[in-house]
Amino acid sequence: MHARMAGRTAIVIGAAQGIGRAIAHRLATEGASVVVADLNAQGAAEVADALPGEATSMGVDVADAEALEALAAFTLARFGRIDILVQNAGIYPESLIAETSPAQWQRVLAVNLTGSFYACRAVLPAMQAQRYGRMVFTSSITGPRVTASGTAAYSASKAGINGFIKTAALEFAGFGITVNAVEPGNIMTEGLTAGRSADFIDAMTRSIPIGRIGTPDDVAGAVAYLASAEAGFVTGTSILIDGGQTLPEGKS
Ligand SMILES: NC(=O)c1ccc[n+]([C@@H]2O[C@H](COP(=O)([O-])OP(=O)(O)OC[C@H]3O[C@@H](n4cnc5c(N)ncnc54)[C@H](O)[C@@H]3O)[C@@H](O)[C@H]2O)c1
Repeated sequence: MHARMAGRTAIVIGAAQGIGRAIAHRLATEGASVVVADLNAQGAAEVADALPGEATSMGVDVADAEALEALAAFTLARFGRIDILVQNAGIYPESLIAETSPAQWQRVLAVNLTGSFYACRAVLPAMQAQRYGRMVFTSSITGPRVTASGTAAYSASKAGINGFIKTAALEFAGFGITVNAVEPGNIMTEGLTAGRSADFIDAMTRSIPIGRIGTPDDVAGAVAYLASAEAGFVTGTSILIDGGQTLPEGKS
């Protein structure tokens, strides 16, 4: 693979496993120096150790504004620039609205949506000073396009990301900074399979016209495009990566 990210520094948040780990690998393989950030500091360190090229890691709770400021400062101290931010950390606990406590609701919004704002805000000064930046956020089909019972907080948080990126894209356009999202469908990760039966996974697979569940690499490829210099005229939008799952008008 050619090194289209050579000389670039990327922060990938939520990269100790699943989609984020694949994104970190993809950006590193394309030549970027990568800071692997995750609530799971040990897992983040293991991912960073396995990356090609220069990589390091930091334990971060994306819902903690000060931790994000520290992450940006750490990255600048180590690599001198921040070209790419990928905010992929997200949680998806299921709970019917009637059974969701305010604290449960707040935590999902704090991680998925407010964390995205904190991450954006922390890297913004460096990107503005460079007059170059690529921000990519992991949204979802759930919220922006479809939904399921038990996902109200998650759906609200991901639809919120789609709104947030549009404003950010507009505000930062004059600085050479683009802001985009990806909307994965069902992607086979540790988080997706946790606590779910084989029957559930089979039913999910049958609902996807392309005939398989997505892989983290399916998402990483799209993120790498949005994070590359060649996507410089793409901003304020999202790429749907769902194997056609949201295409059918009704159940056939
Ligand atoms: N897997 C799917 O089918 C799917 C579909 C649509 C969207 N997504 C989104 O993709 C992203 C990654 O999903 P995944 O399936 O790889 O999840 P996962 O649970 O396998 O991995 C998520 C990673 O984020 C980290 N994380 C969780 N809370 C954090 C916090 N507060 N601060 C920092 N890191 C934190 C976890 O430690 C973990 O390493 C999420 O935003 C999720 O909502 C996933």
